[in-house]
Amino acid sequence: MSTNTNNNGLYDVADLQHIANELFKALPNEFPKEISLSPDHNDHPKATKVVETLLSTGNLAEFTPNTSLQNPTTAYPSHSPVSGLGVSPSVGNYANTGVAGLYPVTDLDTVFPNDKNFNINNPNTGFSDVNLKGSSNDNNPFSSFALNDNYLPFQTQSSSFESELREALASVNTAFGIQPALTLNPAEAQNSYYFLENNPFAFDKKNSFPTAGKGSSFHGIHQLKSTPFDANLIKKDFPILSEKVNGKPLIWFDNAATTQKPKSVIDRIAYFYEHENSNIHRAAHELAARASDAYEAAREKVKTFLNAGSINEIVFVRGATEGINLVAQSWGDNNLSAGDEIVVSNLEHHANIVPWKRLADKKGLKLRVIPVDDDGQILLDEYAKLLNSKTKIVAFTQVSNALGTVTPAKKMVEMAQAVGAKVLLDGAQSVSHMKVDVQDLNADWLVFSGHKIFGPTGIGVLYGKEDLLNDMQPYQSGGNMIQDVTFEEIKYHKAPNRFEAGTGNIADAIGLGAAIDYVTKIGINAIGQYEHYLLEYATKLLKEIPGVRLIGTAANKASVLSFNLQGYSNDEVGQALNKEGIAVRTGHHCAQPILRRLGVETTVRPSLAFYNTTQDVDKFIETLWELKKVRF
Ligand code: ALA
Repeated sequence: MSTNTNNNGLYDVADLQHIANELFKALPNEFPKEISLSPDHNDHPKATKVVETLLSTGNLAEFTPNTSLQNPTTAYPSHSPVSGLGVSPSVGNYANTGVAGLYPVTDLDTVFPNDKNFNINNPNTGFSDVNLKGSSNDNNPFSSFALNDNYLPFQTQSSSFESELREALASVNTAFGIQPALTLNPAEAQNSYYFLENNPFAFDKKNSFPTAGKGSSFHGIHQLKSTPFDANLIKKDFPILSEKVNGKPLIWFDNAATTQKPKSVIDRIAYFYEHENSNIHRAAHELAARASDAYEAAREKVKTFLNAGSINEIVFVRGATEGINLVAQSWGDNNLSAGDEIVVSNLEHHANIVPWKRLADKKGLKLRVIPVDDDGQILLDEYAKLLNSKTKIVAFTQVSNALGTVTPAKKMVEMAQAVGAKVLLDGAQSVSHMKVDVQDLNADWLVFSGHKIFGPTGIGVLYGKEDLLNDMQPYQSGGNMIQDVTFEEIKYHKAPNRFEAGTGNIADAIGLGAAIDYVTKIGINAIGQYEHYLLEYATKLLKEIPGVRLIGTAANKASVLSFNLQGYSNDEVGQALNKEGIAVRTGHHCAQPILRRLGVETTVRPSLAFYNTTQDVDKFIETLWELKKVRF
């Protein structure tokens, strides 16, 4: 497709309108749903809007042939998450016009113009960078994780995705000269299937989404009943993963920030609003009963998922952050006094630092920090030294959002409780990657967010031991949480209701229940093992790229690959990946203390989930190699 330009090298407006019009008409979901604003010309309204916006803002002058509409399929104006490639000064001007995706820059030299001497912030970290090519690594996290054919938990089938992954891993191991070291016998491997007919968490017909099982919403699950785990098939259950970004298939590597939602979750929420919507006051009428049943069924699903002792231990909150604030402000405020000590780890997300720091400042408490080593692993000996009779609570994460470190949670809980401290575990980054059994872990509280486990935003869970919850004062007060109110005296409900004041997020709690159904059907252990191999595959390939420095090299990691790339700022890397449809988070990830401990302010952070594939990883790696070709 070619366009005319005027004497100034600018596009002809009529041409532009024509092209935009054709583009929108060609998009399957764009036409003819909307009624044209210009019926005479049969123009697509979005095309008209694009041109109108450009003309009205005067930004058309920036619309140079160099950033031409070379590839019509890149036009997804209303979905483009960033302003094209923000390093181009002209692109930033369109950030709010909704047309950023219309002018992709296709050439790497254009992506990083005149910037060959850019210096990455490359601080002296005080420890050798084991990840740069050519350096030695005494603590190679992979040496004890090298793979053996028997280890993968998936059936061997020549056409299966897992066979391909196994082969890919084998060839990577060969390339790295790594000998297989860890073996499971076939019987153990077989036991790892959680998605077979005897799945103990099969859908409860009464409490589950009425159309679950009709087929269209559960490609992956149906596939799994007869054939091996297939991430490509599972991907089909997530409508947004068919989206194009900058003309490329979306690769969602921002799972630590939020996960995508399967159709079953989306449909379940729609079903609630279409058939059940009511406040949850069971006795009043039919819809109230339906809504109450669905809401309480979701609570039951969470209870089973976490292996809690009772549904009374499951409190619905807005998310992990609210759960932590609830404990700090309710239990913390009532049970801690000047001189008491709170222990957190150096790995924590700000959400598990700030509420404690504020409480410490308010009440004269001491906030103490468990240090980590240069790989980002908890130093248990140092932790032991912090614990004493003044330690009243230890709050720490099970998986670091910034590094992916998996902490020795059970051991740490045990150590805290040995000195009489309570423990709050942040499960925001763990529940979607590994089995979290609250009775086994024995933490006093555990929090997680629904949106990080394929459920909706705005809903999360506070698990707490029942007696402890009943001893705690309400966090907020109002309707639903009281047994009886007079002007003289107020009697509260027991947990969980005493913590669910006001009308809660009923629909999204039910959506979270559907997400848990989905994860459970596939099997959290199978998910964890698949992701483990995908992470190893990606890590090995990433470390091969000259100038990559991995931030966080713990032996036990989940999902996350934080890194810097020499010669590029993290934003530049993120933008170049976005251009290829690959979504990663760049920045401090709301975990500044741990990044600073490892000598950096920010990282590029891809984070994996079970719908990601080796092809996704390959595309990501290929893009980074392309960057290295341009700038060393
Ligand atoms: N806590 C989320 C993250 O790590 C938002 O990105």
